Amino acid sequence: MSALQASVGAPHARILGVGGYRPSRVIPNSEIVDLIDSSDEWIRTRSGIVERRWATPEETVQMMSVAAGRQAIEAAGLEPQQIDCVIVATVSHMLQTPSAATLIADELGTDHPAAFDISAACAGFCHGVAMAADFVRGGSSRHVLVIGVERLSDLTDVRDRGTAFIFADGAGAAVVGPSQTPGIGPVVWGSAGEQAGLITQKKDWLEVLADGDTERPWLTMDGNPVFRWAAFEMAKVAQDALDRAGITAEELDCFVPHQANMRIIDALARTMKLPASVKIARDIATMGNTSAASIPLALERMIEQGEARSGDTALLIAFGAGLVYAAQVVVVP
Ligand code: UT7
Repeated sequence: MSALQASVGAPHARILGVGGYRPSRVIPNSEIVDLIDSSDEWIRTRSGIVERRWATPEETVQMMSVAAGRQAIEAAGLEPQQIDCVIVATVSHMLQTPSAATLIADELGTDHPAAFDISAACAGFCHGVAMAADFVRGGSSRHVLVIGVERLSDLTDVRDRGTAFIFADGAGAAVVGPSQTPGIGPVVWGSAGEQAGLITQKKDWLEVLADGDTERPWLTMDGNPVFRWAAFEMAKVAQDALDRAGITAEELDCFVPHQANMRIIDALARTMKLPASVKIARDIATMGNTSAASIPLALERMIEQGEARSGDTALLIAFGAGLVYAAQVVVVP
């Protein structure tokens, strides 16, 4: 019996380029407060959100993803044909099948790459980066395009006090490729399915049809327990990701947590005792919570504004519905 050949990958993987797409409609708090009996001041104080973007009908999941993906491919100095795997992290692609990834890969002009979607809610992008790094190192792909994209405005009830002011739309992307030196640290990831009910949908689509509802099965969130879980448990996960990458808080350059709530971001930074030298992503103020898109969008903005520089270390940590989480240290491209 002859032995099978195994694939051989690159010694290491790194992010080669990032991109983002921010929808054109800017929605200030003042446009939201009346329907939920809230105030601009309450939203700013409790969440740090000043405004968010909601997509127009033309700004579809596919359109936003293609824009972000194209920018990431260009930033990586590659042609679309060099992408051999496309991973799309989303919970708001409204077709059960085909996946968003195949449609996006085709519109990008790629050459028939592997293409599939993953469902890990707000942690989807970090899950995708972890998978991409392993694919590159394992030899199943050379250049992986990871996209985090959401149109949460399609799934958010504008009259729901617990979610209407938080969720938003956008797309972010990164190309992961081969490297001679480590550029993506070990992932720390996991789930807490016993808390699945904290962020979910009111019903599934079959129940909606069976009950003759005329409304969509909107997202629901029991925000306070999620807040406490994120602020306490995620600090341990973030520290674990630093430890596993062999980086101390003093050595870290950038902190790019999921943009869920400014108070969670501050609590994590405080618990981890991040020194003042660490640049902290605060994209939530103008983007709201864009779920899978939040980390790549925040990273893209930090790079664009010169806060994150090539070669810097950045700690990514994402958490959300499931509950699920994933964290890793990456080197900024
Ligand atoms: O992306 C996935 C992961 N998601 C998250 O990480 C989100 C985590 N959760 C949160 O960000 C926060 O829980 C929220 C921003 C959603 C809410 O903040 P909170 O500090 O947890 O507020 P709360 O639910 O404990 O409510 C505090 C008070 C209550 O009034 P009383 O009982 O103290 O009089 C609420 O009735 O605020 C009231 N309240 C509001 N007031 C104005 C709740 N929602 C609103 C609102 N506007 N929209």
